[in-house]
Amino acid sequence: MERFEHKVVVVTGAASGLGKATALAFAARGATLALCDVNAQGLADTAAEIAEVSVAPFVRTVDLADPGACKGFITEVATSLGGIDVLVNVAGVLGFTHVADVTETLWNRVMAVNMSAPFWLSQAALPHLLERGGNIVNVASSAAFLGEAYLVPYTASKAALVQMTKSMAMEFLKQNVRINAVAPGGMNTAIGANESLPEGADMALLQRFMPVRPMAEPALVADLIVYVASDRAANIHGACLSTDAGITAG
Ligand SMILES: NC(=O)c1ccc[n+]([C@@H]2O[C@H](COP(=O)([O-])OP(=O)(O)OC[C@H]3O[C@@H](n4cnc5c(N)ncnc54)[C@H](O)[C@@H]3O)[C@@H](O)[C@H]2O)c1
Repeated sequence: MERFEHKVVVVTGAASGLGKATALAFAARGATLALCDVNAQGLADTAAEIAEVSVAPFVRTVDLADPGACKGFITEVATSLGGIDVLVNVAGVLGFTHVADVTETLWNRVMAVNMSAPFWLSQAALPHLLERGGNIVNVASSAAFLGEAYLVPYTASKAALVQMTKSMAMEFLKQNVRINAVAPGGMNTAIGANESLPEGADMALLQRFMPVRPMAEPALVADLIVYVASDRAANIHGACLSTDAGITAG
């Protein structure tokens, strides 16, 4: 099993779903955790669960749509915990909508949380990661590789995140840091809980990207994130690893 004793691991979106599963997986492996989310109650629940089995995590309620808040959070973590070894960008939002109904507010929020926040967090964390030979894991999606009706902002944001991962990996190719992404398919989480399909949605179009195999439990995807962040994955840099039960295979 990968171990993370004396390593500071930052996880965004830790109040729920994959972020929570990732935080719990790192806690079980001895990491010192710094967690954030916009959902204060969910974050407190995750922190309480971790405190039962491990050291209580550093937690902050942060709206990652604000670049200043992203940078401020990283600075606070590095100052309080003495550095950063791993940054896992998990927080994300969906936004099912007809193209005609995409508002500037929706477009800007999806891009801010899914694409821009990982950039600002990475920019702020990189000096700390370089000091310790650390790494970044971005959570993309199978939606980065498939056209998906009614999800134009989401799929565009995830495709951009994959390309950002690769370009950042190239820029730091000669330095002591690794930058990767994982791309889950369908997972059993709350991401769609407050969403409904747009009125008049054509089910035949939706069917084209529906998983055939069962949805994954987030813990399965968290295991891949932990592996990619570990020293055992020293040869993995600039990759986007799919964990999607075959959804992008054909
Ligand atoms: N669930 C799936 O089927 C699926 C598939 C592929 C990729 N993903 C990706 O996995 C990641 C985790 O999603 P999930 O499925 O666990 O959903 P989730 O809704 O359970 O978790 C997302 C978390 O992000 C947080 N968040 C949203 N906006 C935020 C903001 N502005 N600031 C801070 N935190 C914010 C939410 O509060 C929530 O805790 C996302 O990036 C998502 O795009 C999910």
